[in-house]
Amino acid sequence: MANAVGCIDCHTKLEKGQIMPGTEFAGGFKFCVNGKCSTSANITPDKETGIGLLTKEAFIEKFAFYRNDASKNILVEKDGNNTIMPWARLCDLTDEDLGAIYEYLRTMPPIVNKVEKFSKQ
Ligand code: HEC
Repeated sequence: MANAVGCIDCHTKLEKGQIMPGTEFAGGFKFCVNGKCSTSANITPDKETGIGLLTKEAFIEKFAFYRNDASKNILVEKDGNNTIMPWARLCDLTDEDLGAIYEYLRTMPPIVNKVEKFSKQ
């Protein structure tokens, strides 16, 4: 599952540069640019704080949405939320690859970790 390897870097909290065992894919890694922060989402199968309720189709659609140039170039409004999640690059994965990543994430233990995705510094 080479494709999911890149996801873990952002979607896991690091402590002293190391992945904290038992928190894989639970999100919580905060990135701030110009005072605006986006925090990586919990993508474990937890139903309340993760993506446990997201169907495979809805998961793929989240990426497929960015497959045309218009959506890739949506301008962030002043004070709007910007994200570091590389949607514009990852949407070029095929539905099959995205489906495989979804299946892979489904094999992870659900972890309860509520994340506020967008915030100010
Ligand atoms: C550069 C860091 C980064 C990488 C790499 C990354 N993500 Fe993210 N991701 C984020 C951040 C930050 C958010 C929260 C903001 C948002 O939703 O745009 C997010 C949000 C998400 C969401 C939305 C969850 C929700 O609650 O709606 C999904 C699904 C997701 N990522 C899946 C993935 C997958 C699958 C991969 C690997 C193929 C991946 N991400 C790689 C940073 C990253």
